[in-house]
Amino acid sequence: MTEYVTVTSDMNLARNGAIKLYGRDAFEGMHRAGRLAAETLDMLVPHVVPGVTTAELDDLAREFMVAGGAAPATLGYRGYTHSSCISINHVVCHGIPSDRQLKDGDIVNIDVTPLLDGWHGDTSRMFLVGDNVPIKAKRLVDVTYECLMLGIEQAKPGNTMGDVAHAIQTHAERHRFGVVRDFCGHGVGKLFHDAPEVVHVGRPGTGPELKPGMIFTIEPMINIGKPDVKLLDDGWTAVTRDRSLSAQFEHSIGITETGCEIFTASPKGYDRPPY
Ligand code: MF3
Ligand code: CO
Ligand code: CO
Repeated sequence: MTEYVTVTSDMNLARNGAIKLYGRDAFEGMHRAGRLAAETLDMLVPHVVPGVTTAELDDLAREFMVAGGAAPATLGYRGYTHSSCISINHVVCHGIPSDRQLKDGDIVNIDVTPLLDGWHGDTSRMFLVGDNVPIKAKRLVDVTYECLMLGIEQAKPGNTMGDVAHAIQTHAERHRFGVVRDFCGHGVGKLFHDAPEVVHVGRPGTGPELKPGMIFTIEPMINIGKPDVKLLDDGWTAVTRDRSLSAQFEHSIGITETGCEIFTASPKGYDRPPY
């Protein structure tokens, strides 16, 4: 049984499993937070080059979010001590910024979530490092972006989460890629991670119905090989079990009366590489 609750200004926002239906003010707040998130990734574009360390990129991201009046929501989140997640090649998600240098031919996901005036703008994109990214890796990146956008196309009132998931899974598997099961999108807004779970594999017509006012992320992780992941000893870094390359894109969106709004679209049009 899916429960929905209309958000009011004085309500207790703590997780209770219900799906929140937000009003106009929330959509405006999410547009501001989402724009700052997208601008953070736009700003990073010229810095994502061979030789840069992921810690340097994390510093740039933090400084930009703070200068924009936000706090990085990941900083201190469940013991995570960085302002972004930077996931290289076979890292599926939650890569920890470090002294590791990017090298020519890498594919990299950068995921940021500024918390601005109480609203979380959560977004990630892939970046191609240097001029020698293999064709197969570029295809993975392209297909993963297409998966996200095909999912978003299904995000409208009357459809269900299963419709979103099915669109993503069908496109990925048509290309013989594996869709990660172990991580999902999520409700977002006043809370960083909220109900509902947004799965990326599923059957049409199943799962919670989408209603105007819902705010959530879609963030498919797609592997060249099998869907299986394993967690490294640091407790965060998730990698593909078969060491195949993995890609991910993420937008925060809100369901409207007729479809959805994307809060984290790039003001510069840098939504997908090449940038
Ligand atoms: N931004 C990630 C997401 O899309 C969550 C990162 S949580 C962290 O949900 F602690 F790993 F940073
Ligand atoms: Co997310
Ligand atoms: Co994210």
